[in-house]
Amino acid sequence: MSGDMTHDEGHGSVAVEQEHGHGVVAENPFADPGLPEHQPRLTDIDEKVARKSERIVAGLFILSALATIAFMVCYTEVPNNTATIVDFFPIGAISASNFALGLTLGVALFSMGAGAIYWARTLMTDVELPQERHLLESTPEDKAVAAAEFQQGLEDSAWKQRPLIRRTLIGAMAVLPLPALWILRDLGPLPGTTQRQTAWTAGELIINDNSISLDGTQGSGIKPEDLQVGTLVSASPAAVLTAGDNAVNMMTMSAILLVRMNPADIKSQQEIDWGYEGIVAFSKICTHVGCPVQLYEQQTHHMLCPCHQSTFDLSDNGRVVFGPAARSLPQLPITVNADGYLVAKAGFDQPVGPSFWERG
Ligand code: FES
Repeated sequence: MSGDMTHDEGHGSVAVEQEHGHGVVAENPFADPGLPEHQPRLTDIDEKVARKSERIVAGLFILSALATIAFMVCYTEVPNNTATIVDFFPIGAISASNFALGLTLGVALFSMGAGAIYWARTLMTDVELPQERHLLESTPEDKAVAAAEFQQGLEDSAWKQRPLIRRTLIGAMAVLPLPALWILRDLGPLPGTTQRQTAWTAGELIINDNSISLDGTQGSGIKPEDLQVGTLVSASPAAVLTAGDNAVNMMTMSAILLVRMNPADIKSQQEIDWGYEGIVAFSKICTHVGCPVQLYEQQTHHMLCPCHQSTFDLSDNGRVVFGPAARSLPQLPITVNADGYLVAKAGFDQPVGPSFWERG
């Protein structure tokens, strides 16, 4: 059996001659029907209808801009907590903040897209044009043709003739990226206002974390005689008991570790002065990227961070002896009050936690 195929390149029709059995010739069943005759739309022939379409497109772009602005307002004004919720069938109860942000950003994007599609379908040209295939590397002539076609497209899109659409689109596009700047706030609080401050002040009572009641309002102070040499205790400022919703944040920033060691083991005079009878207090937040340090080795007085194995020598100003942390653990100066309970002598002398750009 053998076959022979020819192409009619005029309209892409294909004639196939096929020798089959005693020489039957088959007709090509897929002739190119060509393009149907172009039918003008109402907007092509009636300027009143075209202007109505123009106003609809402009209205959608304006709605997009308003929704974008509403997104930014909602971001700052709608409380971001689970106490304020919206019952939204069929999803169920969701945070009011999430609902408002999702709704406004959704309307902004949808209106922008709907406006562009309506503009293309009603006012841009709908004349069908064949597009020739060509090599990936365009010739200078092709580039010139493309530039000319781009210009023609600009004309056909009525970009120049419809200033209302042009201006509202530019306006909506200009405000659309703003939410990206707005939500940069989610990267965290500014270091100057929070990372430099903890709840420790002179005279602040140190309470044992293990003594804090389930509702977070009761806790016990610590006396020096409660701590034996080698003891490690997680502790917080008494202010967390009355901090309400802010208690967790406060505990996170102000968490300390109390360690009692033999005073003779302490290598630094400052550390002796800032401690009380061998009891020293250090920030519990690793200075690498902020994990809680808690693995204490009594013999060496080394404190290990479980995240990346930074190791601090608590007998030597919390100095880094191993790992990626670049700074010592900050030490909290402590003493006892008139009732014999351990209290802070002052706040930390430096920010606690990971390094940031304002810190050497
Ligand atoms: S967070 Fe502690 S070593 Fe990385």
